[in-house]
Amino acid sequence: MDIATNPEMADAAPTPHEPPVIRREDYTPFAWALPETRLAFDLGVEKTRVTSSLSVEPNPAAEPSPVLRLNGDGITAAQVTVDGAEISDWTMDGPDLLVPLSAGAHVVGIVTEIDPSANSQLMGLYASGGMLCTQCEAEGFRRITFFPDRPDVLSTYTVTMTGPKSLFPVLLSNGNQTGEGQNEDGTHWAEWHDPWPKPSYLFALVAGDLVANTDSFTTMSGREVDLAIYVRDGDLPRTDHAMRSLIKSMEWDEQVFGREYDLDVFNIVAVSDFNMGAMENKGLNVFNTKYVLADADTATDGDFDGVEGVIAHEYFHNWSGNRITCQDWFQLSLKEGFTVLRDQMFSQDMQGEAVKRIEDVRILRGVQFPEDSGPLAHPIRPDSFREISNFYTATIYNKGAEVIRMMRTMCGPEAFRKGTDLYFDRHDGEAATCEDFITAMEDGAGLDLTQFRLWYSQAGTPKVTVTMNYTDGEASLTVHQSVPATPGQAIKKPMPIPLKIALFDPATGTHRGEELLLCNQAEQRFTFDGFAQKPVLSVNRGFSAPVTIAREIEDHELVFLAANDDDAFARYEAMQDLVVRHLTAASSGGLSDEARDAARDAIGTAFGAIITDSALDDSMRGELMMLPSITYLAEQQEVADPSAIHQQREDLKAWLGVRFATELAALHDRVSQLEFSLEKASRGARKVKTQALVYLASGDPESGSKVAARQYDAADNMTDRQGALMVLAGLGTAARTDKLIDFHRRYADNELVVDKWFALQASSLHPKAIEHVKALAEHKDFTLRNPNRVRSLYMAFAANPHAFHAEDGEGYRLIADLIIALDPINPQTAARFVSPLGRWRRIEPKRAALMREQLERIAAVKTLSRDTFEQVSRSLG
Ligand code: PHE
Ligand code: ZN
Repeated sequence: MDIATNPEMADAAPTPHEPPVIRREDYTPFAWALPETRLAFDLGVEKTRVTSSLSVEPNPAAEPSPVLRLNGDGITAAQVTVDGAEISDWTMDGPDLLVPLSAGAHVVGIVTEIDPSANSQLMGLYASGGMLCTQCEAEGFRRITFFPDRPDVLSTYTVTMTGPKSLFPVLLSNGNQTGEGQNEDGTHWAEWHDPWPKPSYLFALVAGDLVANTDSFTTMSGREVDLAIYVRDGDLPRTDHAMRSLIKSMEWDEQVFGREYDLDVFNIVAVSDFNMGAMENKGLNVFNTKYVLADADTATDGDFDGVEGVIAHEYFHNWSGNRITCQDWFQLSLKEGFTVLRDQMFSQDMQGEAVKRIEDVRILRGVQFPEDSGPLAHPIRPDSFREISNFYTATIYNKGAEVIRMMRTMCGPEAFRKGTDLYFDRHDGEAATCEDFITAMEDGAGLDLTQFRLWYSQAGTPKVTVTMNYTDGEASLTVHQSVPATPGQAIKKPMPIPLKIALFDPATGTHRGEELLLCNQAEQRFTFDGFAQKPVLSVNRGFSAPVTIAREIEDHELVFLAANDDDAFARYEAMQDLVVRHLTAASSGGLSDEARDAARDAIGTAFGAIITDSALDDSMRGELMMLPSITYLAEQQEVADPSAIHQQREDLKAWLGVRFATELAALHDRVSQLEFSLEKASRGARKVKTQALVYLASGDPESGSKVAARQYDAADNMTDRQGALMVLAGLGTAARTDKLIDFHRRYADNELVVDKWFALQASSLHPKAIEHVKALAEHKDFTLRNPNRVRSLYMAFAANPHAFHAEDGEGYRLIADLIIALDPINPQTAARFVSPLGRWRRIEPKRAALMREQLERIAAVKTLSRDTFEQVSRSLG
């Protein structure tokens, strides 16, 4: 919605220190329609002149207005014309430009001048390594020119760019190129036209000295599409995987969702300075280099998957986001949740369903669950915000995807496809709402989502308790659910929770079929009969609902499921549960020696079976071997002591390393024989190779260090090399220093690999990690101007609990210092560092006080950005 036309906002008279709250319920359509937009850019790194020509007419669906309100941010108008004549009665209202207009159609012209080289926020038009590029989502377009910068104003764009050919031989914008030419002064120009009406956030422009990897794709109706991936000279050899991923995405979206591409060209540009992963601008996706460039020497298997997933995600937005966009930013999950689900389904088809599902659940529980249980919790369709950039969250993206995945689980894949077909059909060309999506699903897929809508309005992760009563051959399950209170939402209603379950016969190791239970009341009972003995419950199979489960189950039953469950996720979960139970008990103190021995025994039995089970493929084995993260473990406790959890987790790792030293060494040897390839077996081998190494080094650091150094030296790929270096970085051996020096020297000119070098040290188990981070902040390669570099040092550190939660609060101070220093440079990225400090309520009281103290220190900064202000005040509140 339009902030400044909202009368309530005007009364609130916000101080600069307290930016206004924007509310979903205040949405009103814009008074004007803008059928056509013409933009002319006279490009220069230090000075770019933007001349816009906007055709406007009253929007018949809105209240008429005598003024045209155009949003701006940090820009001034050099000239304003209406119907070709310069006017002087325009006014400014804060950052916005107000143009008085009589009813009827007009052409409004505006000239602005901007300095891309001074744009350190990386929003709007900015310079990155000599090239110029744009980022407009969510509200960056208003930093380029005055415009109704809201997603429900759709316009057809024609863009002309003029600039020195020597600096900017490549000139790109959305749509298709419609003209080009040379000027006598050494400049050249290009004209691009995008026939598809779009909101301003999907506008993009790129000007630079770039080279392209080109290919082509023929769509299902026979349209020839030219594909190009633009990168800096030198990076071309690392673009093949991205191109393959793009082509696979285009094929898959036709096959699985019936969606076809709709322009003659599809361009991708990689830039080094980027706040996020990538951006779906129509026909011209702009990517963080991290999600484009990959080859075996410089990218891990995980990086390859990241490229494939993000290329798919942005491509899929062409329908879920661009052809159908969002009415307002409260509907963000309409495009993001749905598109994440689409990219997850794609990656499951490409990489294997089971392992990808486990990885996605790990991200959800590692990032979104903590968000949902902390001060920044919000529903997937929020009701208010101060700065929309703060709502590009795991909740909107990943929980949003889970909510739509549940719809698919409830209706089945065929009905789901009918629902999405209807949605695409019904709303093509519109700015839609989450409610539109839900209604299309009801009408197309035949679901009744009346109660299910609560998933859109209630924040918080539901807690589900399952207990089993067994008598006379009958198993009866009692399922109880509750949704915890979250900021602004004290009381919650029960929600529909689709729970996939199976009841195993412990004698045969089989079950008689999976059941889908729809739990939609606070408490419900389900009975099953005909069991010869008490069955073993496998629940939330495939992670059918994004909830936490507490079940009554014995350790030996978990060991049984970890060895026998035919649902891969449930098998993984049994192993995780076994470890979570033990570490939770151990780190809250008071665990008797006998209890510890018994728990380790059970874990050891399950772990031993996993590392030796020849029926298991290695990539699944690698998943099953992974211990739950400290963050996930901390999340299981009301108030956690991160260093106690860390200590217990390390002890268990070391115990497993000693107990299975022979088997792990044999496993490491076996998988080290395999040749490098990107095939599944070879990737699985690399995954368990480093997993085995992790335990070996825990069990015996001296000999583990030797194995790691050997793995490092023998590596012919980044997965093995990084894995070995990761282990070494946590040790105090001489090989640590040697290999860290070697790694930096070897890859000094590759910024993405240098990022890894920073991250490995910042996330290491080394007891002096915090000292290392301080020293690295002074390293010649460190800069606050590049978001990837900032994240590689400080996000890695903030996600390293033993270092971040140092007892004296030094870790908290370091992150607060960073936020204060980065906020004036890049508020969007700075604000993302607030949430680790915001977890204070869930941390033991001594540390909690130190965390709060740092939040208060940040809050005291007078000039705080809207972004950081909002996150800090929510975190303290
Ligand atoms: N819309 C982008 C995506 O999810 C993310 C993004 C948001 C990028 C804001 C830049 C700025 O694909
Ligand atoms: Zn997206």
